[in-house]
Amino acid sequence: GKSGYDHYMLKEIHEQPAAIRGCLRERVEELTGSIELPELTALARPARVQFVACGTSYHAALYGAQLLRDHGIAAQAFLASEYGADRVPVPAGTLVVGVTQSGETADTMRALREAAATGATTLAVTNVVGSSAAREADHVVYIRAGPEIGVAATKTFASQQVALAMVARVLAGSETQSAVESLRAIPDGIQQVLDESLAREVAETYLGAEAYFFIGRGLDAPVAREGALKMKEITYKHAEGFAAGELKHGPLALVTEETPVFATITGDDDAVAKTLGNVREVRARNAPVIAVTDRPETAGADATHVLPVPPLGRELTPVLANVQLQLVSYWSANLLGRSIDKPRNLAKSVTVE
Ligand code: M6R
Repeated sequence: GKSGYDHYMLKEIHEQPAAIRGCLRERVEELTGSIELPELTALARPARVQFVACGTSYHAALYGAQLLRDHGIAAQAFLASEYGADRVPVPAGTLVVGVTQSGETADTMRALREAAATGATTLAVTNVVGSSAAREADHVVYIRAGPEIGVAATKTFASQQVALAMVARVLAGSETQSAVESLRAIPDGIQQVLDESLAREVAETYLGAEAYFFIGRGLDAPVAREGALKMKEITYKHAEGFAAGELKHGPLALVTEETPVFATITGDDDAVAKTLGNVREVRARNAPVIAVTDRPETAGADATHVLPVPPLGRELTPVLANVQLQLVSYWSANLLGRSIDKPRNLAKSVTVE
């Protein structure tokens, strides 16, 4: 059941600290700073990695690809529906990673099969034990989030991010004590976000808006896309999420005082400074800005509202920022009386191409 929550989605948002603990269990060793993924021991360091995924899982793949590149491995994320092994070259030494919660998504399965047919090694990062992806891929890493009933992916996205953060470091051989400490701090960090009610207040304030924008740069860019997907999926409102730098290449034309802009602002000083430049651009058009940030005093200074998150370092703070956006979407949909757990026209698992 829903354990007293009004919706599975809210229950699953609140299950995230436990889900992440499950994902990390027996995989991280704080004393030595090692990350144990026995599932990957048979795997040589790949020359390059191609991710294939859909929807929310694609956003996790974008995050994972960026982490791998940061650790020196060439990596790209592809939408599974656009991935044709005939068009995308898969040179020898390529690892193809299917990220799929259900392990049954038809587009992702087809992409994995095409990759396997070209001789690539495949890895499934999935939640469902014994799913098609788990059975067919050469290697499997389970995200261990537990069953997710709500159509909107929430805890499974966080668990995908954490699993991919571990996979990236193991493949690159760049496990460190501080990385392990940050991973272990995620459940408490999420709990802090969940204990506040600021997201609900933001949802109420902007409930009348017809469109929402989400921006972020670097590892915050997938969070921006995911924030917009969640918003449109459960509120039926128009929402767009994109890399912050793209704003002035078109979307800025749509920004008025009626369009709330959610700006996720974490990362290094340079990235933060650039995104704050984007924030000033939209503030100059009188658009409300909701800053989701681990540095509320500085990065939140020009914002209309601030949704703070605890600082967990460049790689993992975006996981916490996403939780704030989940809560804003949830409360927006709730106040609008939407069918949150079963949005119109959508299915939990998309088994047709
Ligand atoms: O089971 P999968 O992770 O392969 O599903 C992929 C998408 O259909 C899924 O993430 C979808 O975008 C979510 N409902 C979004 O909340």
